[in-house]
Amino acid sequence: MAKSIQVDELTLGVCYYPEHWPEALWEDDFRRMRELNISVVRMAEFAWAIMEPEEGRFDFSFFARVMDLAHQYGLKVILGTPTATPPAWLTHKYPEVLNADVDGTLHRHGMRRHYNYSSPKYRELCARITRNMVEAYKDHPAVIGWQIDNEFNCESNVYYAEADHVAFRQWLKARYGTLEKLNEAWGTVFWSQTYTDWEQVYLTRPMANPSPNPHLALDEKRFISDNTISFAKLQGDIIRELAPQHWVTTNGLFGHLDSHALTDEVLDFFSYDSYPQFSTIFPSDDENSLKDRAWSMSLANVRSISPNFCVMEQQSGPGGWVNRMEMASPRPGQIRLWSYQSVLHGCDLLVYFRWRTATMGTEIYWHGINDHHNQPNRRVREVGQIGAEFAKIGGAIAGTTYQAEIALLQDYDNHWDGEFDVWHGPFQWQSQRAWFKQLQYRHIPADRITLRPATTLEDLAKYKVIVYPHAAIMTDETANLLQRYVEQGGKLFFGARTGYKNPTGQVNMRPLPGPVAELCGVTVEDYTMIKGTAKAAEIKGADGRLAEGTKAVGFNEILRVDKPDVEVVAKYASEYYEGEPALTRRKAGSGEAWYYGAAYSEQVVDALIDELRLVSPVANWLEVPAEVELGIRASDAGAYVFLLNYADRPVAALLKQRVQDSLTGVWLEGEVELPAFGVWVFERPSA
Ligand code: GAL
Repeated sequence: MAKSIQVDELTLGVCYYPEHWPEALWEDDFRRMRELNISVVRMAEFAWAIMEPEEGRFDFSFFARVMDLAHQYGLKVILGTPTATPPAWLTHKYPEVLNADVDGTLHRHGMRRHYNYSSPKYRELCARITRNMVEAYKDHPAVIGWQIDNEFNCESNVYYAEADHVAFRQWLKARYGTLEKLNEAWGTVFWSQTYTDWEQVYLTRPMANPSPNPHLALDEKRFISDNTISFAKLQGDIIRELAPQHWVTTNGLFGHLDSHALTDEVLDFFSYDSYPQFSTIFPSDDENSLKDRAWSMSLANVRSISPNFCVMEQQSGPGGWVNRMEMASPRPGQIRLWSYQSVLHGCDLLVYFRWRTATMGTEIYWHGINDHHNQPNRRVREVGQIGAEFAKIGGAIAGTTYQAEIALLQDYDNHWDGEFDVWHGPFQWQSQRAWFKQLQYRHIPADRITLRPATTLEDLAKYKVIVYPHAAIMTDETANLLQRYVEQGGKLFFGARTGYKNPTGQVNMRPLPGPVAELCGVTVEDYTMIKGTAKAAEIKGADGRLAEGTKAVGFNEILRVDKPDVEVVAKYASEYYEGEPALTRRKAGSGEAWYYGAAYSEQVVDALIDELRLVSPVANWLEVPAEVELGIRASDAGAYVFLLNYADRPVAALLKQRVQDSLTGVWLEGEVELPAFGVWVFERPSA
């Protein structure tokens, strides 16, 4: 059962760092927060040096004072444990707690997240500050919940300290039992890598050409994920023991961490930090890029963990550190747009980062709602508008969830293996993005879901269509589950490179697509990477189903049809494999298994959407252009259609029914304009 945040109404919060401001400002800050309908304040997550100024001396008076005042103003408080920022006294005395580069260079005091999760000393000191902090604040009437640490695996998601090598060995012993099994799993017979003593085993170490054993590279990521979870659990268990009345969460979606397992094992619900303006500093190279709208792709991931979640940090101004990440200012309306982007995808508690722009430190350009000067500004006014709208619609929307009939399926093993293995990893991203984009542009809401050991047929069967494009690692058990999904009526899409590896990342000695060859009724006879002299072949659909000149990108597999009930939907139309099958469909039970011997491009996805006759769930009464994201949040009580205009100009919409925008109360019908960065939320008409 997925774990969601439980609130009665959409709730606004803000990150606040009282330690950055004169005490004389606090009261005015809290009063103004309430005026904006902000009712939750998140604090303390970086304040270890205040709460434990020297080893073993604790002083919790500062935040007690802050919270007393917050309480007087009716504000609720989320407290962060401060373990992302160990104080100078700590790392100076115990350098073994520091994280290290692959070459062993320690990450020294002066930034944050410079520690490792393995050091027994760090675990001891983290447990102690957490225990003391929870003891000190657990009965404070303002506190509602806890955030563990801050953004696990942000800044760095690899760990090479001495303590990590030791912990990795322990983890491997638990996983494999004997060195013999480890050697087998990592294929160490190759290049004489065989280990004869556990002490010889390390995480990745420096090498002239950084190509470590690929099976080790995969286990390294699994280890980091497990180690992160066990580090988080240490704190989660303490909070639960001492403050069972409070909820526990943590924020951020970062690499080498199974956030689904983290949530299962440690949290009450997951929280995310949403900064869509990163799209302006890491622009995507694809045409037609989703830009800030691409954050919906991450939010779709987040809601697969917690259908209703918290955004612990929502961008509320331009970002930027002193020396990097310089971002444009959000245009008028964009903060509101991004706030509703989070809400559409299931956010019920939205916390802005941050109340006021810092005047000192690394983040003096990471703007909050208020500027340094603390005078009225347009961002504060925009948040005030959102606050007023939440007051109006918040009760009806909270607890409703995003609705989708198509899902993009992924899994952690393939993701982590594909980070290193360029023979399948890049295709996963290419295909997931092509599908997500086309579905977005054509207003077909889609979920992103993660295949896990606990995934059941029931979890999959609620989708009419599932795309699982390039699962290089595939077991017979997974294939069996997928087959049952198809037989009960699902339409399932695979892509090139499916099924060639086992869970160690070693290659199966069987024809491709391995475990799903039977289900698809095809065999891969030959293949080529599209690189160097190999050009992506053109493909031609039967009955003109694909546009002239459509290319099969990334990788080309030449398919052989093995079963009479396989339909060849498209063939290669150029290259030495011209005329051979490229895209096939096989009916099995009441469903269909599709196999595509390449990576999906937007053009191919577009044709498949037509083929599947997928349309917007409100196509009968509502037409909007591609720039607009359309999604629905619903429960048994009602359904709300969200329309978000990401364009910096008004766009034309056609409403064939008279509907009311719940945010403004305005009734709309016929040809109407959705303003630049505008948002509408309609209650779905019953007919
Ligand atoms: C997040 C982090 C915040 C703040 C923000 C802006 O990653 O959790 O503490 O640093 O980015 O840089």
